[in-house]
Amino acid sequence: MPRVVVFDRFGDPDVMHIVDESPVEPAPDEVRIRIEAFAVNPLDQMMRSGTSPAPVALPHARLGIEGTGVVDALGRDVTGLGIGDPVILTAIPDAVVRGSYAEYTTVPASRVIARPPGLEVAEAAAVWVAYSTAYGALVEKAGVRPADHVLISAASGGVGRAAIQIANQIGAVPIAVTRHSAKKDELLAAGAKAVVATDHEDIADVVREHTDGAGADIVLDLVMGPGQQDLVKATRAEGTLVAAGSPDPRPTPFPAAALRIFRYRSFEHTLDDAAVKRMAAFLSAGVRLGALRPVVDKVFALDEIVDAHRHLEDGRHDGKIVVTV
Ligand SMILES: NC(=O)c1ccc[n+]([C@@H]2O[C@H](COP(=O)([O-])OP(=O)(O)OC[C@H]3O[C@@H](n4cnc5c(N)ncnc54)[C@H](OP(=O)(O)O)[C@@H]3O)[C@@H](O)[C@H]2O)c1
Repeated sequence: MPRVVVFDRFGDPDVMHIVDESPVEPAPDEVRIRIEAFAVNPLDQMMRSGTSPAPVALPHARLGIEGTGVVDALGRDVTGLGIGDPVILTAIPDAVVRGSYAEYTTVPASRVIARPPGLEVAEAAAVWVAYSTAYGALVEKAGVRPADHVLISAASGGVGRAAIQIANQIGAVPIAVTRHSAKKDELLAAGAKAVVATDHEDIADVVREHTDGAGADIVLDLVMGPGQQDLVKATRAEGTLVAAGSPDPRPTPFPAAALRIFRYRSFEHTLDDAAVKRMAAFLSAGVRLGALRPVVDKVFALDEIVDAHRHLEDGRHDGKIVVTV
């Protein structure tokens, strides 16, 4: 019988356990996917621990907002997909019911796209959430253009690294922010034009030095909290701030500067078929050209799911955490 990860109460990683469950037959407009691998995301940790802003119905909640696999069964009205086609999942807003932490999930056919050729299974499992979020925030929301200076906080994370690559692909100039100077060389190697390590550097000083004193055109803030003020000080007047992540739970003071400000959630675009088409085309082209490729930190097996979440919570990962099924 196929295995599914579920949890019945909020808590530490060990609230998750594996149960056997029959796969769900697809409705006319749905497809069933045999999952080969999925990535572990901060939102999964929030859902499991009861800190997600969206309500999670218990007991027997599933998890997982991205993954890759092959089409296993098709609803009668589905066209353009065939049994065995390799695909990636593009949005699972109801992850508590259809989550990808499983051997099978059944989703609307509009929520899968072809797996970009050239990616390993573990990379394909980890590509969509990070790249669609970074693309949506920078391209769709902020309208990044070639030569723009893009300041990226939490740049060493999955979304941050995707943002560095996307900025480079567009011809913009990514400037990375990390809390740790030990990560500087690696972020330069990952494509950042400059790196600010906040354990010993001032963000505004470094950004001014790299922008002839002008400041960044666009900020992608993946941290929030009081540190956002340092990003704002490093941004040019009338620049753009897109806030898309908030691992820092402390309050975020309202920016005291004349900026265009957006709060971004990727579902804004990943549930919009036309936007998904643009994102998928950009991603495929970037993978084909070698400009876009996710960094996989560590791969776990399905029965190590508790360890995979502990690894995320340790915070020492460097790239995406993937689980193979
Ligand atoms: N808006 C959306 O739709 C959307 C989609 C995906 C993800 N997100 C959010 O975006 C954020 C990043 O996601 P991710 O997948 O890139 O996460 P990740 O791979 O786990 O990386 C997070 C990075 O954030 C930094 N960080 C962690 N805690 C921090 C803190 N308290 N203060 C400052 N920096 C901290 C760390 O960088 P350093 O150690 O180098 O400083 C870490 O490498 C998360 O909050 C996630 O929930 C939002």
